[in-house]
Amino acid sequence: MDARIAVLGGDGIGPEVTAESVKVLDSIASRFGHEFTYVTGAVGGVAIDAKGTALPEHTMNIVLGSDAVLFGAVGGPKWDDPLAKIRPEDGILKLRKSLGLFANLRPCRVYPQLIDSSPLRPERLVDVDFLMVRELTGGLYFGKPKRRWENSRGRRAVDTLAYSEKEIERVVRIAFELARDRKKRVHSLDKMNVMESSRLWREIATEVGVEYPDVELIHMLADSAAMKIITEPSVFDVIVAENTFGDILSDEAAVIGGSLGMLPSASLSSLPPKNGRRRRGGKPALYEPIHGSAPDIAGKSIANPMASILSAAMLLRLSLGLNKEASAIEEAVDSLLSEGYRTLDIALKGERPLTTSQTGDMIAGLVSG
Ligand code: IPM
Ligand code: MN
Repeated sequence: MDARIAVLGGDGIGPEVTAESVKVLDSIASRFGHEFTYVTGAVGGVAIDAKGTALPEHTMNIVLGSDAVLFGAVGGPKWDDPLAKIRPEDGILKLRKSLGLFANLRPCRVYPQLIDSSPLRPERLVDVDFLMVRELTGGLYFGKPKRRWENSRGRRAVDTLAYSEKEIERVVRIAFELARDRKKRVHSLDKMNVMESSRLWREIATEVGVEYPDVELIHMLADSAAMKIITEPSVFDVIVAENTFGDILSDEAAVIGGSLGMLPSASLSSLPPKNGRRRRGGKPALYEPIHGSAPDIAGKSIANPMASILSAAMLLRLSLGLNKEASAIEEAVDSLLSEGYRTLDIALKGERPLTTSQTGDMIAGLVSG
């Protein structure tokens, strides 16, 4: 199969980890007889420095001409002035919005090999395997008004949490569809005890739930869910939540498995066709690790590229319909860990960690069979 993949490394460790994913994809291509073409574009802080905008038109054109986007990370101290007019994060936010990627899938699994790296007690980690479905193009991130001003009483700022019925319905439906192929349980999170938008969210989730009698729907307050993710993470199967709730809770969920450096994500505008075929045409989906640009460790070749490499596996499965190939990557990561290899974030005291590129080389090697 031929595929064109836009590779947007971005800032900090972003380019380091996506480079390892490309290695692994190349290895997949040669083993399974595919031809992947990579097109790179600037995004985030590096794009601001070069072009004065976080998402240059040139990059957007590359994205629109591709079958899928492999994204690194954006942001860093250099661009962190709270008063800055243009921010690296605008790059990813505009991409998500303009590609209509309203459903962000963040699978959270605990690798048994890494149980010792988890901050939780081992018995709490048994059977933990859930999927966060984060609403990605609405909610508090995008609602208007969104601005800051000053009057005689001082500085003020406002963000708005707004949702239409349709925006809630489509993301909740994706959660139900995915739950059907899993443990058939959806936790829908909200703050209906406080917020009007949450009361609408709960109402719509209940209505959609009626169409899925085979799937159990549990409404849960987002704060209470934050606690449950720590105390009893195995109760969850699919979690669906507003943009900001999903952002915060997915970082929390990520560390229970031992490291933020292990978890991939996919941002979609619809689910892939059930027949496992590749979807042709239309706007591409985007795949990125859930970790950020980690400026403190950038350039040292110590970042864990596994979240990016596992995102590339999601890309193969969801955008290209290449299930065998995706599983080959996931199995390679699994065996690397089973053989006892670790990157710095998951290494135990006294263990000598692999560098970023050694990790990529080893996974690419395992993938080539
Ligand atoms: C994420 C990140 C982004 C977000 C930032 C970089 C804008 O934290 O993907 O979770 O808040 O969505
Ligand atoms: Mn985040």
